[in-house]
Formats: sequence, structure tokens, C-alpha cells
Amino acid sequence: MTQTVHVPLGDRAYDVRIGFGLLKRAGAEIAPLLHRSRVAVVTDETVGAAHLDTLRQGLAAEGIDMVSLALPPGESTKGWPQFERTVEWLLEQRIERRDVVIALGGGVIGDLVGFAAAVLRRGVRFVQIPSSLLAQVDSSVGGKTGINAPQGKNLIGAFHQPALVLADIGLLNTLPPRDLLAGYGEVVKYGLLGDAAFFDWLERNGPALADGDADARAYAVKRSVEMKAEIVVRDETEQGDRALLNLGHTFCHALEKVTGYSARLLHGEGVAIGCALAFELSSRLGLCSQEDPSRVRAHLRDMKMKTDLADIEGDLPDADVLLDHMGQDKKVIDGQLRFILAKGIGQAFVTSDVPRDAVRSLLQDALAQR
Ligand code: GLY
Repeated sequence: MTQTVHVPLGDRAYDVRIGFGLLKRAGAEIAPLLHRSRVAVVTDETVGAAHLDTLRQGLAAEGIDMVSLALPPGESTKGWPQFERTVEWLLEQRIERRDVVIALGGGVIGDLVGFAAAVLRRGVRFVQIPSSLLAQVDSSVGGKTGINAPQGKNLIGAFHQPALVLADIGLLNTLPPRDLLAGYGEVVKYGLLGDAAFFDWLERNGPALADGDADARAYAVKRSVEMKAEIVVRDETEQGDRALLNLGHTFCHALEKVTGYSARLLHGEGVAIGCALAFELSSRLGLCSQEDPSRVRAHLRDMKMKTDLADIEGDLPDADVLLDHMGQDKKVIDGQLRFILAKGIGQAFVTSDVPRDAVRSLLQDALAQR
């Protein structure tokens, strides 16, 4: 059964459709958006090899032609060269203002193609077909699009909401287990930031979800998307509450930076470790009980996920270097580090009022356990 989460953003409102076989039915889902029976699809070579034929057939079933471009897989695609290639390819394909561009892939493709759609002819509509768990629960919804700069990740971009998101749960079956679990880091984040009952549910159902339980996957994606949609509608351009979605991310960005954005640490793994650190910090500051960080860590361990700095292979720099990298996060305002802390599971809040020494000693202790 397909479920729908509506994102009510006025004239930029859209639906997130969640279910099985959506790729096969993409033609029927997308047809109402089209002024002519032709779309441009951008994917990466790995996702394209697995899913492009199904999408082509799904579109053809409704008489929709498709042209496609497959970019190299991986984070390094998300920069100027492949962005330029994509925009110029879309122009060569004569994609017009009223046409629709489809992003078929994970977060890299969704962000890059969304940004290309934002600037092409001053903005064309685009459809997200997220293929990873991380993209289904986070990056495909909410309209953050962009690419990386040599100076840092996601520093060039635009808010450009998709016209439709098709989250086909069946696509998760082709994900390597490590990628699925990394995406699960973002799912846990939603429970931790705003819904204790969802975290309880994840404690009970997370292992089945990881083992392939389709209903559990569909529910987790739907609940995550509902929570994201609610926050995005309150604060589309991140003037306030949307920062809650960055629970664990200030730590994560520093860890990603010092591990070179490499396979040593996937983004969702860094988010999971970052969430555990954010709860430990909250507990040390007397904001939540000592049981809360233990419970967060126990669940991540139960899921066989990276939980502590000790789970990151290879050397890590000392606490001051990590703190410096945290200070370069783009969420810093007037030089003040902003943290997402919690009064308990499901009760996160944004604050700049965190003593630097408390963060330093937290990191020193975490590093000492390696
Ligand atoms: N991934 C965080 C956000 O969309 O705001």
C-alpha cells in the first residue's frame, strides 16, 4: 500500500509517496505534473545500472519518453565539474521551463540535480526518487539542494522544493547493509529529537527493519518523513527550528572532516556517533538523565552500528583539533557554536549556551576510550 505525506508549503506544496513498486508506477505518479510526455533523468552509474530500466518501463507505460544521464557514483561527484556537466546536458536536451527533471539516486544525486533544477532557466520542477534510506528519510524532503565547495560541504546551493518525492521502499533491498545502517542513523535521529514513542518503536523493531522487514521499513520512512515535513513547514529556510534536524551533526561534520569524507566514516555513521555524543553532553550539563545517553548507545550497539569514537578506525586528532573543526561548521553564528541538546529522548532543543570546556572534556574522555 502506498502512503502519502503531504508537505503543505503553499504554492510549493508537494506529496511524498512511500510504498513498494513506485518506480514501476512512476509514469502514473508523474504524468499529472507534465506538460509534454518527456522527462530528463539524472542518476549515478550504480543506481542507474540497478534501476534505470525499471523507471524507463514505468514511464513508457504512460507514454512518457525519457532521456538519461548517469554520473559517477560518490561524494566527489557533488562539485562544480559534474554540476556544470549536468546543467549543460539538460540544456542540450532542450529541457524547458515547464518540463520536469528527475533525480534518481541517493543524497549526492538528489542534492546536485535539485540544485541544477533550481538554476536551470531560473528554475524548473524536479522529482526526487531517492534510492538510499538516508535520502528517503532526509535529503529528498525539504528542498535543501546544492554541491560542495573546496572550502566545505554543501556551501553552494539553494532552497528548491521538489514537486514530488517517490520513496520506493523496494529500492532499499539493493543497498549494501552498511549503507542501510548508515541511513538508519538519520532515522534514529528523528526519534531522539522529537518523538520518544518512535524511539521506543525503533528499539523494538530496528533489528527487524535492518533484516529486511518491509513493513517496518515503510513505517520508519513514513514517520521520519512526517517529522521532517512538520519541521520544514515550520521553518523552511532554517531560521530556527529546522536546526533540530542537525542533532548530532556538529560532531559528525568534524569527524567527517578529520576522516577525509572517506569510507572510514559514512555520514549516517557520523550522525549516530554525534547523537550519542550530544546526549552524553546533555547529561553532563544536567539537562537529561544519565540513563538517556546509555539508552541511545545501547540501541546503536544493538543495531551493530558505530556508536563511539573508538569505532572509527585509524588515528583521530586531539580534542582541540576536533573543536576547531566544529567551529568551522556552517551552522556557527557570530563565532558561537550552536548545539542541538536534549532534555530527554524526544526532547531536543537548539542552544549556543554550551561551555567550550564541557565539549573539550567530553571529547577528551571519548578519545581516551579508543
Ligand atoms: N538535512 C537537514 C535538513 O534538511 O535541514
